[in-house]
Amino acid sequence: MRFAGKTFLITGAASGIGLAAAQRLAGEGANLALIDRNAGAIDAVAAELGALALPCDVADEVALKAAYDQALVHFGYIDGLVNVAGVMIYKGLGELSGDDWHRLMSINFYAAANLTQRAFATMTRGGSLVFVGSIHNVQTSPLVGPYAAAKAALSSLARTASIEGKALNIRANAVLPGAVDTPLLRESPNIKSGAEVLDPADIGRPEDIAAAIAFLLSDDAAFVTGASIVVDGGRLAKL
Ligand code: NAI
Repeated sequence: MRFAGKTFLITGAASGIGLAAAQRLAGEGANLALIDRNAGAIDAVAAELGALALPCDVADEVALKAAYDQALVHFGYIDGLVNVAGVMIYKGLGELSGDDWHRLMSINFYAAANLTQRAFATMTRGGSLVFVGSIHNVQTSPLVGPYAAAKAALSSLARTASIEGKALNIRANAVLPGAVDTPLLRESPNIKSGAEVLDPADIGRPEDIAAAIAFLLSDDAAFVTGASIVVDGGRLAKL
């Protein structure tokens, strides 16, 4: 129960990695505010975990900041922010519209930046920010340009937040998962078409990523900030 008395806000908590993080943190005693655009699913998850459900599209800056502030009023303080919500789009650079780029950046990056603003404005006793990136932060493949760009930007945001957060006792880190068995991976056109073939041994569980998130939120990570931690079963290490 190392998180008893702590409150964390998680985006994308209705499925996959965000759901596993919510279950892990609730299991360790945390109070949780859970954001997802899937209202029915986030209501059900929150009811099961005794959490506060905040149905919201993270691309809507006004609604997102209002959700953060609602959680703050409800719990009195937010100790940690876990930015998980993310989507992929599969298009080549010659086919992508400005709207495609804007949508991907809004969900996968600007939402994290907007929540970071609220965290820096309100975490007066310090806190921990976690950004769920991807191994696409550092290497990538065809047809996922906006996703890779948005994810790479999260590592940069973690670095900036670690520097500006130092004097405020706010730590900020990115987790870079490899392939993880979730609906997002299973529905990937690259996987379905065979363009990307994964060794089953290279596919992790959402719980593997939740464990890294829990570490970064904990006092065990007191000296870890500005880092991008790869959790990929060793995929990036291979030639
Ligand atoms: P998922 O599709 O299982 O879950 C994503 C959740 O985010 C869903 O509940 C969805 O409703 C929510 N969401 C999506 N767009 C939203 C929006 N605009 N507003 C609010 N909620 C929204 O996906 P998964 O795999 O759990 O992915 C979570 C994060 O992990 C993503 O950022 C993804 O890029 C990242 N990731 C996943 C990997 C994988 O292999 N599954 C690998 C590397 C990174």
